Amino acid sequence: MSIREGSAARQHSPILKTMHISLKDKVVLVTGGSRGIGKAIVEQLAAADATIAVHYRASQASAEHLAERAGNDSRAFQANLVKAPEVQELASAVLAAYGRLDVLVNNAGLSFFESPDQRESEWLSLWQTTLQVNLVAAAHLCRAFIPHFIRQGDGRIVNIASRAAFRGDVPAYMAYAASKGGMVAMSRTIARGYGKQGIKSFVVAPGFTHTDMAQKFIDQYGEELVMKGIALNKLTEPKDVAPTVLFLASGLMDHATGCTIDINAGSYVR
Ligand SMILES: NC(=O)c1ccc[n+]([C@@H]2O[C@H](COP(=O)([O-])OP(=O)(O)OC[C@H]3O[C@@H](n4cnc5c(N)ncnc54)[C@H](OP(=O)(O)O)[C@@H]3O)[C@@H](O)[C@H]2O)c1
Repeated sequence: MSIREGSAARQHSPILKTMHISLKDKVVLVTGGSRGIGKAIVEQLAAADATIAVHYRASQASAEHLAERAGNDSRAFQANLVKAPEVQELASAVLAAYGRLDVLVNNAGLSFFESPDQRESEWLSLWQTTLQVNLVAAAHLCRAFIPHFIRQGDGRIVNIASRAAFRGDVPAYMAYAASKGGMVAMSRTIARGYGKQGIKSFVVAPGFTHTDMAQKFIDQYGEELVMKGIALNKLTEPKDVAPTVLFLASGLMDHATGCTIDINAGSYVR
């Protein structure tokens, strides 16, 4: 092929066609799909025709409404991830409903303000709850679905961590940062350990993203401080995070298994 023919062929290459992402007949569980980043992920996956198990703890109306709008037999599933038996029940309920799972998105998370003035018992309980929801429940769901993914010969896990895992956070959110660091190590271990059995595992590490969780921080420290910390002139919105999750869920990024994708408006560049 001549250079001219080569460039003509490239002009008509089918590469762009592969960017049309369809998750038709794929089942995706999004934890904490009822609000914030999780909600935007559900909406993005719905636009690609996925069947979505929209998990929630308290926001039932929002989760049910989202599932109904998503269509394709998407449904809402309730579980308080503080309680280990409910985590296992969530996994069982999703498999009972659909008979399969293709992608697990561990997005649900919480954060608490800690201070040296707190009673030790209060501090300890805050650390335990943070680690339980942000890390242990995510690991528990991985444990529940990995054998299923192995049987299927295919499965993807997208873990929503945080830039705090890499650059640390303010001391008031030390438990939160530690939980996200654990999530990154877990995700990398799954990627390296189960790749030959068809499992791919990724981390998305958002920076400050405009949600209820972030509002707590804004109320405490002010929006000016947040804006000073980012390179762009606009706060990251949940819709700025969601497309990356779709991309990772699609299979187009499988050879990046183990990776972390930073979405932090240039506030932490590495
Ligand atoms: N916003 C940020 O700046 C930021 C930055 C980096 C990383 N992240 C991470 O992104 C993820 C989503 O955060 P977000 O900002 O969207 O938070 P958010 O607006 O506070 O929403 C949290 C979601 O998690 C669910 N959830 C909270 N506690 C739960 C529990 N005990 N059991 C089950 N579900 C629970 C909530 O469900 P209900 O509404 O039903 O209670 C809700 O759907 C989290 O993992 C967070 O750490 C956020």
